Amino acid sequence: MTAADLKTQFRQQAQAALSLNIAYIGVVNGLFSTLHNLGCASSAALADAAKLDPAYVQRWCDAAYAFDYLDVDGEAFRLTPIGEAMRPEAPDTLMPMAVQSILTAHMAERAAGLMRTGERPGEQVLAERETVLPWFGPMLEAHFAPLFEHTICPAVPAFAEVDARGGLAVDLGCGNGWYLRALARRCGKLRGLGIDGFQENIIQAQALAAQEDLGARLHFIQGDIHALTLDEPADLIAMNRALHHVWEKDTQTLFAWLRANLKPDGYVVIWEPAWPADRAVLREPSRKGMAFQNLTEHVQGNHFLRPDEIQAAFAQAGMTSQVHLFAQGNEAVVVAQR
Ligand SMILES: C[S@@+](CC[C@H](N)C(=O)[O-])C[C@H]1O[C@@H](n2cnc3c(N)ncnc32)[C@H](O)[C@@H]1O
Repeated sequence: MTAADLKTQFRQQAQAALSLNIAYIGVVNGLFSTLHNLGCASSAALADAAKLDPAYVQRWCDAAYAFDYLDVDGEAFRLTPIGEAMRPEAPDTLMPMAVQSILTAHMAERAAGLMRTGERPGEQVLAERETVLPWFGPMLEAHFAPLFEHTICPAVPAFAEVDARGGLAVDLGCGNGWYLRALARRCGKLRGLGIDGFQENIIQAQALAAQEDLGARLHFIQGDIHALTLDEPADLIAMNRALHHVWEKDTQTLFAWLRANLKPDGYVVIWEPAWPADRAVLREPSRKGMAFQNLTEHVQGNHFLRPDEIQAAFAQAGMTSQVHLFAQGNEAVVVAQR
């Protein structure tokens, strides 16, 4: 490749990043959704309906037009098909990519500075950008709930058994509570308790459960996974993308707690990105993002885990486990039964 070819290639990649940056501004300010509802509007009318500053919205409309999210007729803007797909409510929405583009830029900047000292500030780094935190839960839900409902649930026998027995499901590090909502929709006999460290996530989880009339069966509390006391043993304890957040603290105590808080025959189901044993596979397109994220996880005091490490922790707690792999082997669901 010549230097000119390389510049062309990187310019195209930079434009893709800019396109997601513009989308992010529209997503978090409800501009795609508002314009969808209006159908067609001047930037001033859009700003008025979205309760935003008209001068900012005017500049955003020009940029969103440049990146093909909007078409224009005179001064009247409307969404293009890509703009429609960026709406958080759209089926199979592109919203998670827009949110991720800003989150990764923020985390890259933090990693760049922190590398000089080795400091690892922890989870609160996610809350440093006021517009990002409220979109963390919706991003994860849009990204992973379809995979869970359509692929993982049917393939992992533990879920059919949980449906049959009902009881209590506990979700440690529950985010916006999408997982317990999905389980409660499947099984009318199931109650749920979700715990998360961020109050923002808990407020969203409570509101979303209430919207689906699940508020009487699903409870969400802000707290620390390490300090949770259950009133009764659980039929299912789940951790989705949460184990790597608490792994470096005290794995042995955590796994002993999981076992001790299960009913006989109860399940622990742990879903984690599957860090590969072989570095060479990180170059595969589906794994590059995981390699980047592992650096940003380090900032938060975490690192990704290989499925066999999770199995070893179960074995140390006296439980045998089974690994189910999904999404080209990038997602591991590790199931253990008491
Ligand atoms: C990657 S998110 C996954 C959220 C959710 N399980 C999902 O799948 O969408 C990890 C979650 O674990 C929570 N978390 C991390 N450490 C925690 C702790 N010690 N106590 C409670 N929650 C914690 C974070 O606040 C975050 O919401």
